[in-house]
Amino acid sequence: MVIRKAKLKDAGEIYNLINHYAKEGILLPRSLNSIYENIRDFWVCEEGGNLIGCASLHIVWEDLAEIKSLAVSEEHKGKGIGTMLVEACLKEADELGVKRVFVLTYAQGFFSKLNFEEVEKIKLPHKVWGECVNCVKFPSCDEIAMWIDLEKVSIKHDAKV
Ligand SMILES: CC(C)(COP(=O)(O)OP(=O)(O)OC[C@H]1O[C@@H](n2cnc3c(N)ncnc32)[C@H](O)[C@@H]1OP(=O)(O)O)[C@@H](O)C(=O)NCCC(=O)NCCS
Repeated sequence: MVIRKAKLKDAGEIYNLINHYAKEGILLPRSLNSIYENIRDFWVCEEGGNLIGCASLHIVWEDLAEIKSLAVSEEHKGKGIGTMLVEACLKEADELGVKRVFVLTYAQGFFSKLNFEEVEKIKLPHKVWGECVNCVKFPSCDEIAMWIDLEKVSIKHDAKV
């Protein structure tokens, strides 16, 4: 099992992973176009030639990034893959000089274990909400906003990614 940056050839499998959960309303859907355009944001987990997880780190502003499209295939949940993908994103964010990373999620317990804290949505920059008008959940978003302050936590830079 390896955690690595995505390549263009991964786009189709990333699409399937995300949209599996999008159909259940747990994740926002992503088009193939949006995955190709943002392929450099993505981390993937590969096992035996198949993608079994993905996550993306999207830069929002000078000090802020968002974790989006985190998905682990149903058969591989509970093996620490989601944790490894988030850690890879946080390590990359730290290396880029990002101070805070936020997520809009229903998996509050998962992110709490990774030291994310709930934050009032109003504290996120307006730019974030500019994108919301294009979201399928707009205007009744019930996702929970959480963030982590990378200056207050120690990021594992020895992670094997
Ligand atoms: C949420 C998700 C990414 C977690 O991935 P995973 O590989 O199963 O998670 P891990 O094995 O690293 O779990 C780490 C810990 O979080 C817990 N956890 C996992 N999913 C959780 C959830 N949805 N809610 C609360 N806790 C959760 C695990 O039980 C585990 O706890 P432990 O360390 O005490 O055993 C995965 O369940 C998934 O793809 N869910 C559907 C899509 C989704 O909700 N994505 C997040 C949206 S931002």
